[in-house]
Amino acid sequence: MKARQIKTNVYWVGAIDWDRRLFDALIPLPDGTSYNAYLVQGSQKLALIDAVDTSMTDVLMAYLDNVPVIDYVIANHAEQDHSGSIPQVLAKYPDAKVVTTPKGKDMLVALLLIPEGRFITVSDGETLSLGDKTLEFIHAPWVHWSETMLTYLREDKILLPCDLFGSHLATTDLYVADEGQVYEAAKRYYAEIMMPFSTIIEKHLEKLDGYKIDVIAPSHGPLYDKPSFILEAYRSWVSGPPKNIVVLPYISMHGSTQKMVEYFVGALAGRGVTVKQFNLAATDIGKLAMALVDAATMVIGTPTVLVGPHPNVAHAAFLANALRPRLQFVSIIGSYGWGSKAVEQLKGMIPNLKVEVLAPVLSKGFPRKEDFKALDSLASTIAEKHKEHGFA
Ligand code: FEO
Repeated sequence: MKARQIKTNVYWVGAIDWDRRLFDALIPLPDGTSYNAYLVQGSQKLALIDAVDTSMTDVLMAYLDNVPVIDYVIANHAEQDHSGSIPQVLAKYPDAKVVTTPKGKDMLVALLLIPEGRFITVSDGETLSLGDKTLEFIHAPWVHWSETMLTYLREDKILLPCDLFGSHLATTDLYVADEGQVYEAAKRYYAEIMMPFSTIIEKHLEKLDGYKIDVIAPSHGPLYDKPSFILEAYRSWVSGPPKNIVVLPYISMHGSTQKMVEYFVGALAGRGVTVKQFNLAATDIGKLAMALVDAATMVIGTPTVLVGPHPNVAHAAFLANALRPRLQFVSIIGSYGWGSKAVEQLKGMIPNLKVEVLAPVLSKGFPRKEDFKALDSLASTIAEKHKEHGFA
């Protein structure tokens, strides 16, 4: 593919990874992804902003075939999907310097064995002149690792935030063309990658209020020529109130927990609560993460396996704990044969969730009248609590 112009002397030179289906050996990528790199040609100097994944270095190097000199490689983030091809770029351009945060330098030396002499480190707010174009570096830790920064191209009012505001979406559209599709992909990306850092991202968003931004050019997915689309979405995900939603990840081995889940979902729906039900035997874990962005309550459904929760349920609880969603309430429903410590074990797996734990409902064997009554009671409690808090 040819380099694609964004503004005068500013080009997208990315790689589209249509076939990638897993990121970090963890995150499902149903729609592939892209690794967006950018060339900014000033009147005196040329900068490459971010690079591409190691696996697609050839794509980036093809763009650079007719580029005789690169002065700076801006590394907003050290993760290899953006930095992996930097060593090859540095090998082609022996005078090029890598511009990054001090932490970014440490990590790039450690991860890619780049010699220390190849770096220029920049502080928050520092600028780098390319002649008639100026790059400003905004330190923004934890989007997605501790070393991350954003780059702002002042004259063109382009924000290049690397992972922040990205979406795992392979597309030939340079800019957002289908807002519904990109909203879904960006929300999935936020849920899986950014949600654990929502508090600090809220502060980064406040800082960005001070910048005039015409284009947001992230390093995954299409660019935003209407920045308010993604900025407003992030504001709602990061600091909006949770919604009148129960997320219900569960698994059932012999039908008892399944029967409880079916009954409970009906009980909640009948009380006006939206339920997002995920059978963990088959679910896309990214969909579960997305549902956690908005939900006020999570109810975990599990049978008892060797005294504890089913391992798939334990995995989902571990994931929810790591993602730190805005949940306010948690409960557990399920079944056992002769004894269970599933509730105690699950509670111990979610220390990061600052939630009220509502009385669990465990059935000995197949649920009976008193179990259904207890599920009705739990559904009423949840509906009332959502109402009291104004979760709509
Ligand atoms: Fe796209 Fe954190 O790497």
